[in-house]
Amino acid sequence: MPSNLIVQAPADGVRLITLHRPQALNALNTALLEELAAELHAADQDPQIRAVVITGSRKAFAAGADINEMAERDLVGILDDPRVAHWQSIAGFGKPLIAAVNGFALGGGCELVMCADIVIAGSDARFGQPEINLGILPGAGGTQRLLRAVGKPLAMQMVLGGEAIDARHALQAGLVSEVTEPELTVERALQVAVAIAAKAPLAVRLAKEALLKAQDMDLASGLRFERHAFTLLAGTADRNEGIRAFQEKRPARFQGL
Ligand code: CAA
Repeated sequence: MPSNLIVQAPADGVRLITLHRPQALNALNTALLEELAAELHAADQDPQIRAVVITGSRKAFAAGADINEMAERDLVGILDDPRVAHWQSIAGFGKPLIAAVNGFALGGGCELVMCADIVIAGSDARFGQPEINLGILPGAGGTQRLLRAVGKPLAMQMVLGGEAIDARHALQAGLVSEVTEPELTVERALQVAVAIAAKAPLAVRLAKEALLKAQDMDLASGLRFERHAFTLLAGTADRNEGIRAFQEKRPARFQGL
C-alpha cells in the first residue's frame, strides 16, 4: 500500500492518484517518487485503465524535490541517485496522464506537471523552477521541457530568476491546457479522462506517442512515424467499429483490439 499517495478509481477506466505528503507540501522524496513510478507502471500494464489523473492538495500540487532529503546527499549520492530511474519511469508512462494542479507546482512539482500530457490548472496555481535560489538548477527535466513548453525568454526568466508564474500566464505560455475555478480542477480533469477512456485505446496510445515525437524528431521523421502509426491502426477491430458506428449513426463500442 502506498503511504504517500491516495489511489482511487472514480470512473470506469480512470485512476485518480493524489499526492499526499501534507506535512511537506507534497515535496517529492524518494519514497513518494518510488510509489508514483510503481503506481504508473501498474496502470500501464493494466488493460482496464485507460487514463490517469494526478493531483495534489489545494495548497500545493508539489513544492519540489524534498530539500531536506537533498541536504543528505553528497556528490556520490547524487551520481547514484535512485530518483533518476523513478523520474524516467514516470516520464515514460504510455497512457494519457492528466495533471490537475492547484497551489504550488514548484521545482520537481513543475517538472512533474511537464511529464503530464494534459494540464488542468486551478486559477490559484503557481508554476516555478526556484532551484536557482538553492544554488542548483532543475534536475528532473526542468530546463529541457520548460524551454520546449514556453519558449526561451520565459524559460530563462523562470529558471535563472527563479520567478514563478500564475495559472493565466501559464495558459498563455502553453504550460497548461485549461484554467478552472480551483474547486473544479479535479472534476474537470476527470471529465477529460473519462472522455479519453471511452476512445479506442490503441489509437490513444499511438496518438500520444506520435504527438510526443513532434518534440523530439525532425518533421520528416515525425511524419514518417505518424504514417506508420496510421497504417498500423488500419488493421484494428476498433477502427472498423469506429467507422461502422459512424455510418450506423450510433456510439462506437471500442474494445482495445
Ligand atoms: N522540501 C521539503 N520540505 C518542504 C518543501 C520542500 N521542497 N517545501 C515545503 N516544505 C515544508 C516546509 O519546510 C514546511 O515544513 P515545516 O512545517 O516542518 O517547517 C512545510 O512544508 C510548509 O511549508 P512553508 O511553511 O514553507 O509554507 P509557506 O506557505 O510559507 O511557503 C513555499 C510555501 C513558498 C512553497 C515554500 O515552502 C517553499 O519555498 N518551498 C520550497 C520550494 C522549492 O525551492 N522547490 C524546489 C526544490 S529543489 C527541486 O525541486 C530540484 C529538482 O529539480 C528535482
